[in-house]
Order: sequence, then C-alpha cells, then structure tokens
Amino acid sequence: WWKNVEPAPKDPILGVTEAFLADPSPDKVNVGVGAYRDDNGKPVVLDCVREAERRIAGTSFMEYLPMGGSVKMVEETLKLAYGDNSEFIKDKRIAAVQSLSGTGACRLFADFQTRFNPGSQIYIPVPTWSNHHNIWRDAQVPQKTYHYYHPETKGLDFKGLMDDVKNAPEGSFFLLHACAHNPTGVDPTEEQWREISQLFKAKNHFAFFDMAYQGFASGDPARDAKSIRIFLEDGHHIGISQSYAKNMGLYGQRVGCLSVLCENEKQAVTVKSQLQQLARPMYSNPPLHGAQIVSTILGDPELKSLWLKEVKVTFPCFMCAHTFDGESYLIKHVESHVVFDNSTKELESDKQIMADRIIGMRTTLRESLEKLGSPLSWEHVTKQIGMFCYSGLTPEQVDRLTSEYHIYMTRNGRISMAGVTTGNVGYLANAIHEVTKS
Ligand code: LMR
Repeated sequence: WWKNVEPAPKDPILGVTEAFLADPSPDKVNVGVGAYRDDNGKPVVLDCVREAERRIAGTSFMEYLPMGGSVKMVEETLKLAYGDNSEFIKDKRIAAVQSLSGTGACRLFADFQTRFNPGSQIYIPVPTWSNHHNIWRDAQVPQKTYHYYHPETKGLDFKGLMDDVKNAPEGSFFLLHACAHNPTGVDPTEEQWREISQLFKAKNHFAFFDMAYQGFASGDPARDAKSIRIFLEDGHHIGISQSYAKNMGLYGQRVGCLSVLCENEKQAVTVKSQLQQLARPMYSNPPLHGAQIVSTILGDPELKSLWLKEVKVTFPCFMCAHTFDGESYLIKHVESHVVFDNSTKELESDKQIMADRIIGMRTTLRESLEKLGSPLSWEHVTKQIGMFCYSGLTPEQVDRLTSEYHIYMTRNGRISMAGVTTGNVGYLANAIHEVTKS
C-alpha cells in the first residue's frame, strides 16, 4: 500500500507559515499568509465576534445545519454582495449555499461548472491566489489565463486584460477578484470595471467573482462590492464566492457563501438543489459555529455597525486632523498618514484598525525604503490596496530575505501587509533595501 506515493510539494502560502514556525530566530518576521495581525503581531478577535459568541454560548442548538447551511447567515451574506435592497434577493433569483469559506465556495462552483458545463474552461488572471489553480485543477476544469498585472508599471494591464477577454471564445468562464486582488493589490477602477462588464456582455462571458476581501480594499464592504454591482446593473448572471475569514477574522471557522444568480426563482431552486447535492458527499453540511457568529452579528443592527466600525475606521487623521470624505480616502489622504479616530474610543486600541492599520504600514514601509536611499521606486507600495503588497521582489531576493534575515513571504514577492508592524517595519525595510540595492 502507498509505496508509489511521493511527498506533495509544499503549499506556496501555507508552506511559508510552516517554515516560519520552525525557525527559532527571535528576529523572524512572517509576512506570508494573509491573516490580519495587530500592531504587536498578534491575531485579533473582533469585539463584535466576542459579543456574538457570548450571546450564542449556552444555546443548546448543536444539530446538523441543512446541506445548504444556515439560511439566516446566507440571507445576510447575500445582502452584503448584492445590496440590502437587491431586487434579485426579493425575486428569489439567487441560488446560494453556505460554504467552507472562500476556498469551499470556489471549489463547489468549480465542481458545479464541470458537472453542468463539461468541457468548459476557466480563465484565471496572471497572477492569482495560488490555490485557484489547485481548485479548478482538482475539479478537472481546464485553465486558461488572462493578462492582469503589468510588472513594469506594477499596475493593471488593462489593455492585455481587455484583449484576452475579447479573444476568449464566446460564453467563456472568467474568474475575477471582486476587490483587493490577491496577490497584487491592484484593482481596476470603477470606469474600467464598467468597460470590462460591457465587454463581458458583448461576449456573453460568465463572471465568477471571488470576493475574499470585502472591506479590505476601501474599508467599506458596500464600496468594495462595486465591481459586482456594476455587473448586476448590466444584467449579467454571475456567481460569487464570499468569505468571512478576513473581514470578520473568522479564518478557522470556515464560513462563507457560494451564490449563483439565476434566470428566475424556479431555476434558482433547481441550481441550489444541485449545489446541495454536490456538498452532501463531500462534507454533508457545513459547520455551525461560524455561521451562528455571522448571523448573530449581521442580524443585529448594533453588532453590525460595530463590525463595520471595526473593519473600517473612517475618521480624522490624528496627525493632520484631515477628515476624509470617503471618496478621496485612498487617493488623497493615506499617502501620508495613518488614520485614527476618536469615535472608536470604545474599541480596544489593538482592535482599532484593520484596513487603516494596513494602509498606515504601507506608508511607513515606503517612507523607510526611501529614507534608506533605495534607488528603486516604492510608489506601488502605497498605491496597491487590500492586505497585500506585490513588491516586485524576485524569488531569489525573497530567498535571501528568508535565509539572511528570517523574513518569510511567498516567493512571488507578495508581502502580507497585515504582518507588518511598527516593531518590524524598519527591520523589513532595511532587509528589502539590502537585497535590492545591488
Ligand atoms: C492567503 O492568500 O494568504 C490566504 O488566502 C490564506 C490561504 O488560504 O492561502
């Protein structure tokens, strides 16, 4: 038995965490996995989550959830993606099931795709989250790629993207990152999304949105759903993967949602029955606790507003007292200062900032590299958004960071900004400078 089994290759992301944990160096820094840390490098449990757990504790319900998961959680989750007053929700046109976080939603969709569109392919951006490749590979969906990132400009390769969308066969499946693209932190502008949507319409392509970071691009979940809302306005039938790993910090609870927008209610009922049928032999039904936490938070206006506050801190800057107006948030303000706020005094200080702490660290990292006299441009560090910075470091430079400085990150040069703190940003900047200066 099993004599022919070879060791599996290390996972490009989770393998980095394994290596970090095995390193005894006191200087070690983990900017590999995309998991939020506070400024002391400690994982954070949101206050809204703690309160929801307190409310749930002692309730006796430990039964199986239905195959499609918690109906209440799914209902609330759909509102975040499709909008509170979505006509599609009202018309019951969305087939949706609770999923094992974003990975589970993508996998369920990939299996659904291959079962009901056998032989179809999926177009995946270059680069993308490494697990996307594994997911569609294991679901036996052939993969094609489309241009996304321009290494020279360190921005979006919009022309390449549009050309690839145009040249793909009519009715192709495309995987799109709804916001805070992983790993690049580069998103299309609203105008570009509109153009992409129009072209998808002309080509009758199917858009599948992976929205793993809703709230992490702008700090505002509603704003981060803009790409999806544009596609909905344009009358697309889309699919969405949603996850609460990052924006509620429920990483290990594995709670998310897969939805597919259908022609009508009848079709939605049919599609949902098939999604459940796919889930049943895989994991039967999804876990309960995370779903209870989410539905408790989103079903209670007070807890929901606490959650929104914890994801986003949208206030006067403590350094310059600038009050930003939402729209100018990333563009004008965060270039220079960390944003803090008085109205979050009731939050514990280590929980005050998620999106904003990351934005502040981008500024500090860039400024530190500039102060060290780096001959390279680090503008993209503050331009990119979300949890990651796609630094432009080569695999060899990353290897040096790890072997000489005990700094752990994925070999594609992605820095998880969530792992950068006031305590390690100087060390990180110095190490990056050392490996890039010659
Ligand atoms: C990441 O990209 O680091 C996260 O999504 C964690 C994971 O599962 O890969």
